[in-house]
Amino acid sequence: MSGVNKNIVILISGSGSNMAAIVEASFKQRWQARMGARVAAVISNKVAAQGLSWAREQGIATRALEHTQFSSREAFDAALMAEIDPFEPALVVLAGFMRILTPGFVQHYEGRLINIHPSLLPAFTGLKTHQRAIDAGCRFTGATVHRVSTELDHGEILDQAVVPVLAGDTAETLAARVLTQEHILYPRAVERLLGAG
Ligand code: GAR
Repeated sequence: MSGVNKNIVILISGSGSNMAAIVEASFKQRWQARMGARVAAVISNKVAAQGLSWAREQGIATRALEHTQFSSREAFDAALMAEIDPFEPALVVLAGFMRILTPGFVQHYEGRLINIHPSLLPAFTGLKTHQRAIDAGCRFTGATVHRVSTELDHGEILDQAVVPVLAGDTAETLAARVLTQEHILYPRAVERLLGAG
C-alpha cells in the first residue's frame, strides 16, 4: 500500500476489545511515525457500542449508524460507505462487526477489507464458533484474520492463532482464551499489511 497517510477505519458492534488492541498497538509501536498509519475512525452499527466511547476518549473520530433505521441491507451499506469514504482508508478493519455486508460493499473495498473470526477457518464459519468447537471434540481452536470476500468467512487467510480447548471449557471460558490471542494476532496482521507498502 502506498501513500504517506494510511488511514485505518475500524468497524465494531460491541465491546470493541480488538479495536482497542489495534489502537493501543498503533500508539505503543508508533505506527504514525514508522509507517504513516493511524486509526482515523471507529464506526459502529450500534449507538450504544461500548467501544465507541472508549475510542472517543482516545481522540479518535467516531460515528454510529443504527442499521435498524435503514429499510434494506443495501441502504445501510451505502450509508456506511458514505461515512467511511471521507477518511480515504488504506484499510477497513472489521472487529466484531456483526453484520453481513453486501457484495457491493465488499467490492468497493476490495484489497483493503479484513476481518477477524473466532475459529480456525475454514472450520466453523458463522456464529457460535466456540460451542461448536467444544461439541465437535476439537482439541484446538483459535482465531483467523482474513480478507473479506463476498462469501461469508471465506476470504484469503492472512494469519491464525491456535488455542487449546481444555477439559471443562464452556463457550465463555474458551471465548475468553481465544480473545486474548486475537488481541495479539489482529494488531500484528494490520501492522504487516500497512508496513508492507
Ligand atoms: C471477537 O471474538 C471476534 O473474533 C468476533 O466477535 C468478537 C468481538 O469482540 N467476531 C465474530 O464473531 C465475527 N463473525 P470485540 O468486540 O471485543 O473485539
